[in-house]
Amino acid sequence: MATLLSVCTQQEELIVKLPELRIGNLVAKVPIIQGGMAIRLSTARLAAAVANEGGIGLIAASGMPFDELRYEIRLARKLSPTGIIGINAMVAATQFAGLVRTAIEEGIDLVVAGAGFSRDMFGMGRESGTPIVPIVSSAKLARISEGLGASAVIVEGSEAGGHLGTNRSSREIVPEVVAAVKKIPVIGAGGVLDGKDIVDMLRLGANGVQMGSRFAASVECNASDELKKMYVRATDPEDIVLIQSPVGLPGQAIRNKFAETVLDGTVPPPTECDRCLKHCSHKFCIIKALSRAQQGDVETGLVFSGNNMRKVDEILPVKEIFARLKKQVAEIE
Ligand SMILES: Cc1cc2nc3c(=O)[nH]c(=O)nc-3n(C[C@H](O)[C@H](O)[C@H](O)COP(=O)(O)O)c2cc1C
Repeated sequence: MATLLSVCTQQEELIVKLPELRIGNLVAKVPIIQGGMAIRLSTARLAAAVANEGGIGLIAASGMPFDELRYEIRLARKLSPTGIIGINAMVAATQFAGLVRTAIEEGIDLVVAGAGFSRDMFGMGRESGTPIVPIVSSAKLARISEGLGASAVIVEGSEAGGHLGTNRSSREIVPEVVAAVKKIPVIGAGGVLDGKDIVDMLRLGANGVQMGSRFAASVECNASDELKKMYVRATDPEDIVLIQSPVGLPGQAIRNKFAETVLDGTVPPPTECDRCLKHCSHKFCIIKALSRAQQGDVETGLVFSGNNMRKVDEILPVKEIFARLKKQVAEIE
């Protein structure tokens, strides 16, 4: 498997070329997965734009009714007929199995599963030949995943946005996972914002990267302008906080009025509940809190964010993000 960056001389210039990323039979020309971002931040338009640049685009399925997921997958296919499109779903969601089944019925290219772990999903992938890619935060879970039939693992560290499974940096965990798995690709996630971050991750032995924050602040991200502007305004490490999510995991987010109420215990509990989670603390409704932020209510909504969001100072189209990343990579010696 080509893990190392190939370095070639061209017009006396050192060009660092990014390797392809192979997951099962899929070959992504650029080893970048756009991380799934719920609720409805990474929908068809973003996933397709990333796929059209040679990366892998993920539709965040969590919180979507099955019909909406079908619609988004079909739209992404229309916008990117030859690109690689996957879904991301939270294992912690009550509808997890149904979302995975729906995506497989629609002929999705791969399924990425975060916020929990399910043995059953590997069976669903095996029956249909769909690559199943769990998000893990330890070498132990990576090895177990490979044994169960994972086609790759995404190793997410404490820099990542959203729910976290560890307080350790992805830079520490990636080499441990690379040493622990035998054959499957390893994808590093958390704090990858620019070309240097990509090269650093590949030099640690990863075969590719998953990026969330950079794409959250893209033109194609399906969030209100208010939310995207908030990402650009986050310039200080102190702007980022860890809150306890009702899912039972810490969640990394931007400090705002809502996050403060979670931190000081005054957050209002849900007034109604449609039991979207297998286990919920009922401290607040996470779907409603994330949806409020997606709609533009950035003070009473929950704004998930990676802890390196300060590196993002502009909302850019996906095409431009890829062009800049490639240029930054090419400038590295
Ligand atoms: C706004 C936002 C929402 C996210 N939602 C999800 C999600 O629904 N499911 C998931 O597995 N990961 C989610 N993540 C994590 C990303 O997919 C990705 O792994 C992570 O953000 C990588 O770290 P980075 O933001 O530093 O690039 C989310 C991240 C962000 C920033």
